[in-house]
Amino acid sequence: MTFLFNSDAVRGAIFAEAFARELPDLPFSMDPAAVDPDAVRYLITWTIPDNLARYRNLEIVFSIGAGVDQFAMTALPPSVKVVRMVEDGIVRMMQEYATLAVLTLHRQMPAYRAQQAACVWRPLPQPQAAQRRIGVLGLGVLGQAVLERLKPFGFPLAGWSRSPRDLDGVTCHHGADGLDAMLAETDILIVLLPLTSDTRGFLDAALLAKLPKGAALVHTGRGPQLNHEALLDALDNGQLSGAVVDVTDPEPLPANHPFWTHPNIVLTPHIASITQPDGAARAVIGNLRRHFAGQDPVGLVDPRRGY
Ligand code: NDP
Ligand code: OXD
Repeated sequence: MTFLFNSDAVRGAIFAEAFARELPDLPFSMDPAAVDPDAVRYLITWTIPDNLARYRNLEIVFSIGAGVDQFAMTALPPSVKVVRMVEDGIVRMMQEYATLAVLTLHRQMPAYRAQQAACVWRPLPQPQAAQRRIGVLGLGVLGQAVLERLKPFGFPLAGWSRSPRDLDGVTCHHGADGLDAMLAETDILIVLLPLTSDTRGFLDAALLAKLPKGAALVHTGRGPQLNHEALLDALDNGQLSGAVVDVTDPEPLPANHPFWTHPNIVLTPHIASITQPDGAARAVIGNLRRHFAGQDPVGLVDPRRGY
C-alpha cells in the first residue's frame, strides 16, 4: 500500500516528513517510476496523470487545491473517491483576500490611486459599512469563512447556495428566485462557487444587470465562470463601479487583455489562497485516518454535482 505524491518537491519534503512521523507504516513516494503501480492506493495531485489507469488499486485521489474542476471526473473509475483540499491555510488566506478586496472597493482605493497618479487631493463621499451590502455566491467552507471574517465591520451580509442554509447574522438565499433577490440587494458581490457545468459562464451580462447600479464584484471562484466582455461592458457603462479579479480564463491573461490596464479592475494572479503544505499534510493524514476507520474523508466530492 503506497501514498504517491505528485506535486512540487518542496511541498513533497514537508509531506514526507509529516507522513514519516504520523503514518510511519504507510510507504510514501514522490517518484512514480520507483513505485509498484499496483501498490498505489492514494494519490495527491493537481491534475490527473495521463497514465492513471496503471494504478489499478487506487482508492482515493486527493486534490492539492480546494477546487476539483481540473479533474475530468469521467476519467476516474467510479470506485475512486475524489477529495478536495480543506485546510486552514486556504481558508485563512481567502478570508484575508476577500477582506482586502471588500475594503479596497468599499474605501474606493482604485479612485484614490487614480487621484494620486494625477496629484489630486480630494476626499470622496464615503458610504458607511452599514450601507454597503455584501452578497456571497457560494456558502461552502470558503464562503462561510469569508462571511464570518467580514462580520465585525458591520456590513449587511447575505449569501446564496444551491441548498438552503441557515447562518447566524447572514441572510441566506438559495435557488433561482433566491439568487435574484440577493443580487437586487448586493453592493459588493463575492464569488466563491466551484466551477461546474452549472456555474460555467454564470457571471454574465444578465446576472451583472441584476445588481444595483454601481455595485462591485470580487471574483475569487474560477476564471471560466466570468464573461470578460460582460464585466468590461458593465464597468464601462457604469452598471458596475469596480472589480477585484483573482481568477481569469485563460491564466495568465494575454499581454493585450483589457483587464491589465482597466482603471476599475484590480487584477491578481490567482493568489487569493495558496495551499499551505504543512496544513495540507495534516488534512490528508487526518482524512487517511478517517478512511482507515471506515469514515468518509472531509471534502469528499460528489462526482454528480462536480464539487
Ligand atoms: P465548497 O464545496 O465548500 O462550497 C461550494 C458552495 O457553492 C456551496 O455552498 C454550494 O452550495 C455552492 N454551489 C455550488 N454549485 C452551486 C450552484 N449551481 N448554485 C448555487 N450554489 C452552488 O467549496 P469551497 O468553499 O471550499 O470553495 C469554493 C471555490 O472557491 C472552489 O471550488 C474554487 O473554485 C474557489 N477557490 C479559489 C481559490 C483562489 O485562490 N482564487 C482558492 C480556493 C478555492 P451547497 O451549499 O448547496 O452545496
Ligand atoms: C485552489 C486554488 O483550488 O488555488 O486551491 O484555486
